[in-house]
Amino acid sequence: MTMEFKALLVEQPEKKVFNRSIVTRSLDDLPEGELVVKVHYSSLNFKDALSAVGNPGVTRNFPHTPGIDAAGEVVSCTDGLFQPGDQVIVTSYDLGMETDGGFGQMIRVPSKWALKLPAGLSLKESMMLGTAGLTAALSVRELVENGVTPEKGPVLVTGATGGVGSLAVAILAKIGFKVTAVTGKLEETPYLESLGAAQVIDRETLLKGNERPMLKPTWAGVVDCVGGDMLAAAIKSARYDGVVTCCGLVGSIDLAVSVFPFILRGVRLVGIDSAECPMERRTQVWQRLASEWKLDNLTTMVDEITLDGLEEKVQSMLKGGLKRRGLVNLLDS
Ligand SMILES: NC(=O)c1ccc[n+]([C@@H]2O[C@H](COP(=O)([O-])OP(=O)(O)OC[C@H]3O[C@@H](n4cnc5c(N)ncnc54)[C@H](OP(=O)(O)O)[C@@H]3O)[C@@H](O)[C@H]2O)c1
Repeated sequence: MTMEFKALLVEQPEKKVFNRSIVTRSLDDLPEGELVVKVHYSSLNFKDALSAVGNPGVTRNFPHTPGIDAAGEVVSCTDGLFQPGDQVIVTSYDLGMETDGGFGQMIRVPSKWALKLPAGLSLKESMMLGTAGLTAALSVRELVENGVTPEKGPVLVTGATGGVGSLAVAILAKIGFKVTAVTGKLEETPYLESLGAAQVIDRETLLKGNERPMLKPTWAGVVDCVGGDMLAAAIKSARYDGVVTCCGLVGSIDLAVSVFPFILRGVRLVGIDSAECPMERRTQVWQRLASEWKLDNLTTMVDEITLDGLEEKVQSMLKGGLKRRGLVNLLDS
């Protein structure tokens, strides 16, 4: 097949120089794989922003098309796992890292990376959620399955205006939790309240007294998207038996805490990984996102863009200033 399509291409003409442009590519440019998908929508995640600027922690081989998320229609599937016309979601594994990703109108991937779009979600809604939604839902799942209930106290979400954070706020509020959102953008308080946050605080408020080994027990559960000092403060201020999930590193990869919160309050720290998350858990979480955790305010949480709009969003995301998740429309690109 020599089908042509448009894609964002990151090229490296010389060491440490990365150029981004929208180009025409062909299926022959894509890696091997059983499944060819015509991508309808993708979304912008922090990893995509890093890949787009050549961060070697994400992508080492160029030219490359980023995009760890893709949802669309099956064109062909050589192992019969899917039929042409099936609507599928492909997120993470190696998509958008070393495998050309969803910022192209076609992807070719191993068929085991894909799952059927669950009933109750459109392709567009699935990418309004994307990996951020999957990660938020995996985090909420850990709180719920580890026994955190609304009766046990308020829950905290850090990096609250970000993709994972805003979706975690909305899902937790939807299922009855009293959510405190921490943000560096207090001017976004009305937005966070519209998602269901009961309280919005700034980062300094959470970090107050953080030099101490323990802080006032406050949170029954925490979804942390930031790492570093914010995660440390969240762990120190978790209640007895509190559950803290950790998925992000936008603040720092370091974590300086004593063992006290764990051995004196029984606090549990749970790591979240959406990239290699087993397909069974992934499918279960997507089904929840399409049913009991389905959000009716998703359109308020995204800015729809085409491939041309990615550059501005990438730069803004890398500065921590992105206000809404980027939903990438490949059909209109
Ligand atoms: N483990 C996984 O499977 C997985 C999956 C997806 C994402 N992630 C990670 O999760 C994190 C969030 O991803 P995302 O897509 O939500 O990114 P994002 O949309 O850029 O959101 C990150 C948010 O964190 C806050 N923030 C940014 N810089 C900060 C700093 N220096 N200190 C404290 N807060 C800061 C900002 O929110 P406020 O201004 O509201 O504070 C920002 O909007 C990233 O590190 C990403 O790599 C991990």
